[in-house]
Amino acid sequence: MDLAQSYELLRSLTAPVVAITATRGAKRNGMISDAAVRASIVPDVPRAAIFIHKFNYTHDMVLETGRFGLHVLHTGQLGLVEQLGFVSGRDRDKLAGVPHRLGALGCPLLEDCWAWFECRVINAMDAGSSTWFLADVGEHGRGPGGEILTPAWLREHLPPAWQEPYLKNLAAAQAKARELSRDIQPLVWKGLTT
Ligand SMILES: Cc1cc2nc3c(=O)[nH]c(=O)nc-3n(C[C@H](O)[C@H](O)[C@H](O)COP(=O)(O)O)c2cc1C
Repeated sequence: MDLAQSYELLRSLTAPVVAITATRGAKRNGMISDAAVRASIVPDVPRAAIFIHKFNYTHDMVLETGRFGLHVLHTGQLGLVEQLGFVSGRDRDKLAGVPHRLGALGCPLLEDCWAWFECRVINAMDAGSSTWFLADVGEHGRGPGGEILTPAWLREHLPPAWQEPYLKNLAAAQAKARELSRDIQPLVWKGLTT
């Protein structure tokens, strides 16, 4: 089987570039993802699903609080992708200087975006290297952004100086994910009753 080809073909399934934010105690943080999807076709049951690698700081913030802010980004936000997606918030305040407010659930909601949603996790699945979070969407809104930022657009317009850190981060994440991928444990979400 041609695994390199399956990886390339699976890239066609990618969703827009999004910023995921969370608050835990006094700490606010945000990261970048290109794997958020709409998870309901029912207009009065709006849902989204995201997956976050376990080695990202935001992962534990969402796992522990069950809440996150989700922002579809626009093509004017390359700087934010670098700010939130290239380094971890473990040792720094990545949202310092990023205009935002706290939503009804306490999640940081960014002023600049294409659209934003405040989400409450209703179920989760252990995927080995990552956790998939299924969430109800609460407060939401359309931001000022024009054109939605897609992974293909991002790759095409990534400033040359960012190529090296981008590829280095990707390779490091792939190595960590490879190690954890097959270690899948049962996970019962705290809000679920049998
Ligand atoms: C374009 C792009 C897409 C990304 N997609 C994901 C993703 O789907 N899931 C994930 O866990 N990390 C993804 N990342 C990596 C995180 O954003 C990155 O590791 C970030 O520094 C994590 O921050 P944190 O440790 O503060 O949570 C992506 C990064 C970029 C630049």
